[in-house]
Amino acid sequence: MLLGTQRVNAHGHLEIGGCDAVELARQFGTPLYVMDEQCIRDNCRRYKAAFDARYPKNEISFASKAYLNMAICKLMQQEGIGLDVASAGELYTAVRAGYPMERALLHGNNKSEAELQMALDHGVGRVVVDNFLELRLLAERAKAQGKTQKIFLRVTPGIDPHTHRRIRTGQEDTKFGLSIATGAALDAVTEALGAAPHIQITGIHCHIGSQLLDAHTHEQAIEVMVGFLRRIADVTGWVPEDLDIGGGLGIRYLEGQRPPTYDEFADSVIGALRAALDRHAVPEPTLWQEPGRSLVGEAGVTLYTVGVIKRVAIPEAPGTRTYVAIDGGLSDNPRPQLYDAVYEALVAGKMGEPKDQTVTVAGKHCETDILIPSVQIGNVETGDILAVQSTGAYNYAMASNYNRFTKPACVFVRDGQADLVSRRETLDDVVRLDEIPARLA
Ligand code: LLP
Repeated sequence: MLLGTQRVNAHGHLEIGGCDAVELARQFGTPLYVMDEQCIRDNCRRYKAAFDARYPKNEISFASKAYLNMAICKLMQQEGIGLDVASAGELYTAVRAGYPMERALLHGNNKSEAELQMALDHGVGRVVVDNFLELRLLAERAKAQGKTQKIFLRVTPGIDPHTHRRIRTGQEDTKFGLSIATGAALDAVTEALGAAPHIQITGIHCHIGSQLLDAHTHEQAIEVMVGFLRRIADVTGWVPEDLDIGGGLGIRYLEGQRPPTYDEFADSVIGALRAALDRHAVPEPTLWQEPGRSLVGEAGVTLYTVGVIKRVAIPEAPGTRTYVAIDGGLSDNPRPQLYDAVYEALVAGKMGEPKDQTVTVAGKHCETDILIPSVQIGNVETGDILAVQSTGAYNYAMASNYNRFTKPACVFVRDGQADLVSRRETLDDVVRLDEIPARLA
């Protein structure tokens, strides 16, 4: 499974963005997150083009929680993509990168007053209001400061997507948003309209779930959301301008997976949208989306160095298991433990060799941090560089310092050039926040 600009070079090595993966590992050390810049740019352009061709009134914002540093903010700005941030830290990163904040949306189910103030201070384009408390706090602050803040209201369409239970959000039983079914969402719309001019509600928002491998739940959510637009217009007389359906499109982690292409996804989404707008006689809103994983996931590869290889006896066939230990694991990729996530791996320096053995890839934390329970792979030996595919989303972003591991570096590769975009943490970084109180010294 080769993704983005990946190919096998004349040395039989994996090449990404024109850079030899074995050479990248030597130059920058491992573990190393490698992001295929051209692949991200192509994904942004193709996603946007797929929707522009079918429904020109649309806005794409990158869900920065999937992968964020200052370089990606610049890239998204260059590609004309909006930015969804969900915390003070994400917002601050965008501000520090010089991202035009009027193109940003602020999310969060429990935004602090400080976060709401940051949104006002930096002129964030839309605050996606999650609840009544937030609506009141934001209205008070905007009024006191003589400002107008545009908002979306986050609602729950009551759709249960078929994805891992930890990444489902469209169903009724969720901490996010306000229920359409109970009437809470409509009450909040009315309250927001009453808070004009300091609050300017322009639309409604939902996000149903992540890593969705078909567009079925998006279609269902659109029907519910457009029905709600109709109801808002009937009850309040206000016709919302914006409809935000969040993110969620899945990617390929395994060779056999086949998520919808951007064109297929756009066909389904826009087909459902046009049908629902007709059925409910609702004028065309601007369609907003917040893809995260589908813009960056397949663009990322993590490179590890193989250390110990152990064969252990197991009761089931074939009687032995081969543990291939790598120099990272849980701290750079917690997804297998959290979501039973699955990955493909390649021996980056032996791409020409047959994949004739099955191994278990293990991390090096003081946990059973199995990164890949079972993968078909070539002849892997100590010192080889292992490339784990599709780690561009929710890997660097979710990395931790467990066991006081230093966070890996991240490079962008493009046209044979590799540039550091996040440096590797040092051991000094690991202790930089520690204090020894005088009584312990
Ligand atoms: N918009 C909102 C409001 C979201 O909460 C999310 C993701 C997105 C957009 C982007 O969704 P995407 O297009 O990436 O599916 N850590 C988990 C995924 C959590 C998703 C959280 N929200 C994982 O590693 O699978």
